[in-house]
Amino acid sequence: MMNQLELNDYKQGVADSYDRRSQTYDNSEWHVQICRRLLEYSQVGAGQTVLDIGTGTGHIAIAAAQIVGAQGQVIGIDISAGMLEQAQSKVSALGLSNVEFQLTDAEALEYPAHHFDRILCANTFPWMQDKEATLRMWYRFLKPGGRIGVHTPADTAYVGAVVLRKVFAKYGVSLEASNRIGSVEQCQDLFTNAGFEAVDIGTELHGSYTNLEKAKATWEEIVGRPSSTSLKVLGNGLSQLSSAQLAQAKAEFDAELESFRTKEGIWDNLTTLYILAGNRSSR
Ligand SMILES: C[S@@+](CC[C@H](N)C(=O)[O-])C[C@H]1O[C@@H](n2cnc3c(N)ncnc32)[C@H](O)[C@@H]1O
Repeated sequence: MMNQLELNDYKQGVADSYDRRSQTYDNSEWHVQICRRLLEYSQVGAGQTVLDIGTGTGHIAIAAAQIVGAQGQVIGIDISAGMLEQAQSKVSALGLSNVEFQLTDAEALEYPAHHFDRILCANTFPWMQDKEATLRMWYRFLKPGGRIGVHTPADTAYVGAVVLRKVFAKYGVSLEASNRIGSVEQCQDLFTNAGFEAVDIGTELHGSYTNLEKAKATWEEIVGRPSSTSLKVLGNGLSQLSSAQLAQAKAEFDAELESFRTKEGIWDNLTTLYILAGNRSSR
């Protein structure tokens, strides 16, 4: 099942980080909850053919395999061999024979046109590099009347990045959206421009307290020592700032985060979006 993949630096960084998290990934209930909701919204049914993109440890793929039954088929794909090993061991323990995992890049898939009834993607879409081209490709894999269901955090998620974007804006520097997609309107445009119809975006309010130091560390992750997977500062705005301006921006960033402090920590708005859409014959 697992072959070597040729990935660019960014994707190799993403795959490596999930390989490192793969043993403990299932400790969090958060992802399970999101996968469950996306499955419900997408109305997966018996006998369907389902593609789970960025399947990780297989939360959606396994639940979908149980719904589609013996007449259905599920494929889960991912670039992290470590995550897929976890998924495969769960499938073996459950004895499911209608689900298969493939180590492959979601932006370079090769399936026949009109192959899947459902294409689902939870907690993964923000990692795609060319989002519109990728969606166009996924669209071609949907059967007439098929549906896609994509989950993403809203762009209000990750308080450190939200505050950094706000502070940078004062200095004329742009930071990409926390969810790398943007607002609800931008999501709507993205899916429509990629060819989907009947694009319906549901919002659910979530959030949790995070600690101040963790939120402050966002500066170092994005400005100090960015890695290939860090959120990007757009253009060359940062190099235009003097060291005094940069120090001032950092002080403003810290001060704003400190102003949010409560005894529980600082609130991180983790509102989620569920984007459901179909192809032309799915109205
Ligand atoms: C946060 S996990 C989500 C896993 C699962 N969908 C869930 O919700 O529990 C993100 C997954 O997307 C995978 N991923 C990121 N970029 C990918 C790409 N270009 N192609 C395939 N998988 C990718 C990662 O390796 C990781 O397993």
